[in-house]
Amino acid sequence: TTHNKVSNKNNFFGNTTPIDLIKEYGSPLYVYNENIMRERCRELKNLLTYPNFSVNFSVKANSNLSLLKIALEEGLNADAMSPGEIFVELKAGFSSEQILYISNNVSKEEMQYAIDRDILVSVDSLSQLESYGQINNGGKICIRFNPGVGAGHHEKVITGGKKTKFGVDPSLIPEIKDILSKYNLNLVGINQHIGSLFMEGDKYIEGVESLLTIAENFDDLEFVDMGGGFGIPYKKLEDEKRLDLESLGKKLDKVLFDWTARYGKQITFKIEPGRYIVAECGNLLGSVYSLKENYGMKYVGTDLGFNVLKRPVMYNSHHDIEIFRESNIPSNKTETVNIVGNICESGDIIAKDRTLPEIFEGDIINVLDAGAYGYCMASNYNNRLRPAEVLVTSEGNVKLIRRRDTYEDLIRNF
Ligand code: LLP
Repeated sequence: TTHNKVSNKNNFFGNTTPIDLIKEYGSPLYVYNENIMRERCRELKNLLTYPNFSVNFSVKANSNLSLLKIALEEGLNADAMSPGEIFVELKAGFSSEQILYISNNVSKEEMQYAIDRDILVSVDSLSQLESYGQINNGGKICIRFNPGVGAGHHEKVITGGKKTKFGVDPSLIPEIKDILSKYNLNLVGINQHIGSLFMEGDKYIEGVESLLTIAENFDDLEFVDMGGGFGIPYKKLEDEKRLDLESLGKKLDKVLFDWTARYGKQITFKIEPGRYIVAECGNLLGSVYSLKENYGMKYVGTDLGFNVLKRPVMYNSHHDIEIFRESNIPSNKTETVNIVGNICESGDIIAKDRTLPEIFEGDIINVLDAGAYGYCMASNYNNRLRPAEVLVTSEGNVKLIRRRDTYEDLIRNF
């Protein structure tokens, strides 16, 4: 058989092909490429020349244990958004000092979960700072500020700025100082996150400058965490440009060195990217089971429902699509279609009005750049089984890194 890639070309699948992968592991299937992930980790580690710099992988983007181990091997630290993320990070082998728990509206029990494991907690309101003081008098603490600057690919993922729930308003610094001294807390770090996915560094730098002004209010900081949000080009087929890390790194370095001279003490600077590390190393494969035309619109029916990849439905996100076919069906037609899933909601569309080479039943759809916020946002909606995940290793071999859900999984909590 010829394994014919109908559009585009790359070497993502190592010694195998999408068609063989689906035959062996079933459909749909998340596929990750180890080399690409390692490359992204290294690019970010080299972002700055500033001496104390660390990259915290924001594992909310993908918390597969095998991928966490790769990040750890690459010398990354990790941030966590929940005790569950702390749990998998410790399992992957990260040490307590490597983890920062960035909490948002959590119970004292959740804070205690981190404290018991010697993991630093970042709180993002005065009331959470009080709660923390009540259970860890004299302890170390980090505070998340809202610098008044935001950026992101969609309103739902802009986390900084005047209209979001995140971070402490810097005008409350006097109140913060009161609570810190009331509970004898040691403020070792401050952090922010302006939002997810910027392609130009300007807003990020603006946010950093604003955070550094905030930092000058506190004497003994050990670190400033500047946040994540580093974007990737989702429209590669239209030659969308990459984020220029080199120029961003240069500008940031200058800001940080200048600030250090003013502050009078070198501290550690952290970033906490998620998407940049894992988006492009992950593809989602699915199968075409039906083709139909409804009132003039062509529908390609697949198993890629929003239970598997939620981003297109939730944020109108664009993911490039490739098509693979076992036999060489001659066709040089293109057509405009909606690629839809198998979920009983009419919003279940993974690619809308997309012009692609003609698609046939039995084709394999490859959804690109699905490694970030893909599997981790997948669900069992409609009692569908979450897909398996496989890794194409540096040697080009395939390793199962999470099995597909089973029907038994659907009732295991009863
Ligand atoms: N740090 C904090 C505090 C965050 O809230 C986030 C993401 C990150 C870091 C990592 O951001 P990144 O580098 O991945 O942009 N589900 C959405 C994205 C939500 C991002 C939430 N916060 C999506 O699929 O686009």
